[in-house]
Amino acid sequence: MEKNIKANMRKSIHGEWSSKLIFIFAATGSAVGLGNIWKFPWMTGENGGGAFVLIYIVSVLLIALPIMIAEVFIGRHGKQNPVASLNYLSNESSSFDITEIDNRLNRVTTRKQKYSNSDDYTNWQLVGWMGMLAGVLILSFYSVIAGWTMSYIIKAGSGVFTGIDLESSKQVFNNLVADPYLLLFWHSLFMLLTCYIVSMGVKGGLEKAVKILIPGLFLILIGLGIYVTTLPGFVDGLHYMFVPDMDKITPDVILSAMGMAFFSLSIGMGSLMIYGAYLSDKSSITEVTTIVAFADTFVAILAGVIIFPIVFTYNLDPSSAGPGLIFQTLPIAFGAMTGGQLLSTLFFLLLFFAAITSAISLIEPAISYMIEKYSKSRLESTVIIGLFTWFLGIGTILSFNYGADIKFLNLNFFDLLDTFTSKIMLPLGGLLMAIFTGYIVKVAIVKNELKLKDFIFSFWYKLLRYIAPVAVTLIFINGFI
Ligand code: PFF
Repeated sequence: MEKNIKANMRKSIHGEWSSKLIFIFAATGSAVGLGNIWKFPWMTGENGGGAFVLIYIVSVLLIALPIMIAEVFIGRHGKQNPVASLNYLSNESSSFDITEIDNRLNRVTTRKQKYSNSDDYTNWQLVGWMGMLAGVLILSFYSVIAGWTMSYIIKAGSGVFTGIDLESSKQVFNNLVADPYLLLFWHSLFMLLTCYIVSMGVKGGLEKAVKILIPGLFLILIGLGIYVTTLPGFVDGLHYMFVPDMDKITPDVILSAMGMAFFSLSIGMGSLMIYGAYLSDKSSITEVTTIVAFADTFVAILAGVIIFPIVFTYNLDPSSAGPGLIFQTLPIAFGAMTGGQLLSTLFFLLLFFAAITSAISLIEPAISYMIEKYSKSRLESTVIIGLFTWFLGIGTILSFNYGADIKFLNLNFFDLLDTFTSKIMLPLGGLLMAIFTGYIVKVAIVKNELKLKDFIFSFWYKLLRYIAPVAVTLIFINGFI
């Protein structure tokens, strides 16, 4: 009952973004992160270059963006944590028409009858549960990688990269990941900072951070993009990224590219749903999500355009560098340029900030759930979930050193978490959100919330009902066979 009232007031109990622009910054902060700069180039290298990039872009446009709109829609309409929002909307849609004969007026009338109350249990809330779990699982390894970034800020600032060659750069990276205590230190520090910001709440913590960080990161990336045009490997780098070798397209490459699109746009697990819950009813969901999707894709592509010319200039093998790719390549470029020490410090600092704005969105769904469901304080909820995530992160730390050979399905702990979340949980979450919005929620509710011109609505609705679910299902089936 109490939750009903909350939702009907049509404002989240956690507050609202101050403006549409702040939502765009926050959602871009969630989307742009290690995924774009660390994971996208690594995945592109591992999956054969141009073919992967092509499928990635197609996945963003035809599958991920339509689902992203649906996810923000569910959040803004429900105005609660993902579990409760899905539940609310599902109950709201399960009404049916009662036709009666009104004897007094002697005519037939129709009225709506609800099947259920808005907080009755429905199975759709499981999608919210899966999302919260995915967020915590992802954050547990994300924080370890963000820790590498923090350690690289110090290295860059103290001039370790000045004039560095490929061998030494690899050595610096290998020394770092071989030391579990060092990794634990950085992972713990990153989790502490994330939890600190989250504990201050959405407006206090998040808004201030994203306003400066996002524009800063864009500027420095564009600067680097201009620099790499002077490298001898520039053309080879571009060729590798943009000329697809069709022979390299396999079901697994397609699954990886689609998973990457979900990961990079932060969709399929409720992050954008909870951010949508804090979005004012006046803002256009389609407009803001489209801006975020383009900004995110731009950063990922730009990151590739920066990394691959360096890779080819220094004769690295793009397919075998693995998750260390950017940490081994970028220092060489920074080390060779004038002002590289300052620039590299700034770069890793901004990457760290990009990581923290994403980390916040990974943990927020679970935290908002704890607060609303168990009436815990924000601080208490943050401590509980933060500690659990921190502990899980130790598994990832060990998979880069002592536990590297402990494998299940030929994957170490980190690879297993990454594969399971990106290739299964996020696409599955997205698929269910598409089916939910496209088939379960009453179309009138969706129309009313999105307020789109008829032809745009029907185009999006078709993508959501037919293209996205069929594509995700087929890619799943093929990828696993
Ligand atoms: N999109 C983030 C990145 O590219 O680094 C990672 C991420 C954040 C994934 C939030 C999923 C999510 F819900």
